[in-house]
Amino acid sequence: MTFSANKLLLFGATGDLSQRMLLPSLCGLMSDGLLPENIDIIGTARSEHSDESFRNFAADALAKFLPAGREVKVDSFLKRLRYQDLDASTPEGFDGLAKCVGPIGAGEDEGLSIFLSTAPFLFEPTIKGLAANGLATGNVRIGLEKPLGTDLATSCQINDAVAAAFHESRIYRIDHYLGKETVQNLLALRFANIMFEPLWNAAHIDHVQITVAETVGLESRVGYYDTSGALRDMVQNHMLQLLALVAMEPPTSFDATAVRDEKVKVLRALRPVQPNETVTGQYKAGAINGEAVPGYDEELGKGSGTETFVAIKAHIDNWRWKGVPFYLRTGKRMPERTTEIIVKFRCVPHSIFADKGAKTLPNTLVIGIQPRENIQLSLMAKVPGLDREGIRLRQVPLDIAMPDAFAGADRRIAYERLLLDLVEGDQTLFVRRDEVEAQWHWIDAIRATWAAEGIEPKSYTAGSWGPSAAIALAERDGVTWHE
Ligand code: BG6
Repeated sequence: MTFSANKLLLFGATGDLSQRMLLPSLCGLMSDGLLPENIDIIGTARSEHSDESFRNFAADALAKFLPAGREVKVDSFLKRLRYQDLDASTPEGFDGLAKCVGPIGAGEDEGLSIFLSTAPFLFEPTIKGLAANGLATGNVRIGLEKPLGTDLATSCQINDAVAAAFHESRIYRIDHYLGKETVQNLLALRFANIMFEPLWNAAHIDHVQITVAETVGLESRVGYYDTSGALRDMVQNHMLQLLALVAMEPPTSFDATAVRDEKVKVLRALRPVQPNETVTGQYKAGAINGEAVPGYDEELGKGSGTETFVAIKAHIDNWRWKGVPFYLRTGKRMPERTTEIIVKFRCVPHSIFADKGAKTLPNTLVIGIQPRENIQLSLMAKVPGLDREGIRLRQVPLDIAMPDAFAGADRRIAYERLLLDLVEGDQTLFVRRDEVEAQWHWIDAIRATWAAEGIEPKSYTAGSWGPSAAIALAERDGVTWHE
């Protein structure tokens, strides 16, 4: 039975994600009447707090991180918060937490949604503590924030531990990119329009590019990032989810099983990457928007072999995508923050304008995920004029800016969508176990290749688009990264 939870238990309630995203998202949802009015939100973490001091903590977080202009009802939200401190690494304390949560109802508007936003080493003891104290049975579901392991083996270990207490239908693995409107819009673009699907294959598409560029550096995540690196931090999850949405077959319906069945087929069809199909980099001191920024080593305070940039030429071994490379790149300290997907179509098979000296360029579809939320299709058009010699052609863009097309629509934080689905029980935008494992399988092989071939990150200057080898990776196929 599906149920809508009337209790939410937030592990890691005083952490960074909670302050920046979870508390503002919950406040937004509450204010718009999307959560039950009487919802009980229980925060838990190691820090000591009373209900009152946690509410003050939450009020500060909202003041800092609620998107500007968002109208919310802060006071009525804060009243719904309670707090219980807990050291989740030991079994003691979970009985107190269970008491604080109280009875879990069995009706369709009753139940508990749990969200784990904690360090991964706490997943297993937390699950055990929950299970031993009646917080894993009945109307209970659990959301897990990344990172879910550091490789396939550790990911399986976490998945096994969670599966020992929760059925897969109750497990919500979060990839916050799936909560982004523009990412969901990929599905609308592909499957709510007739015009793209007939062309969406190797016969008509030359290649696809996916870029996720960030201007930020290490930020305050020293401990985590240096043990992860760009491949595991960004490619294993967000970028492979974007790739799967671009490449999957049409699902028969917009439901969790149908969508995830199609995504996993793509992930499993990813061909192992060859050593010359990947480039890694690490930023050195440079400047972004005219402002000097230190190198990764300096930020870290020591030398490190961790990559802050990765570029990959990927292939999907199936009928639809045979011979169509997918170029992926992501990096920190890039010149601008941008996430976009470029679909480069093939040239027309025969140009009737060639002998008039006019060049026909291939159409390009640019899907802007952030910060520009747009869809741009470049088309060839005739340059107006009475040319005696023939005809002049030029590429012109058809550009739809989503914020203009939907002016007045509420701007939502990605976590609002995901938290709402966690409370209401819709898994469509969450990652299934077989997907995560297929993702890790491919990523582990890349890391093994790096180790076997001694591939080390090449330096790039902060504020550039990565090492020159990444440009060469595309250019040797006659492809230019879209900028
Ligand atoms: C997180 C990564 O998953 O995604 C971060 O751990 C990264 O390193 C972030 O900065 C990017 O998210 P967004 O939504 O800002 O693109």
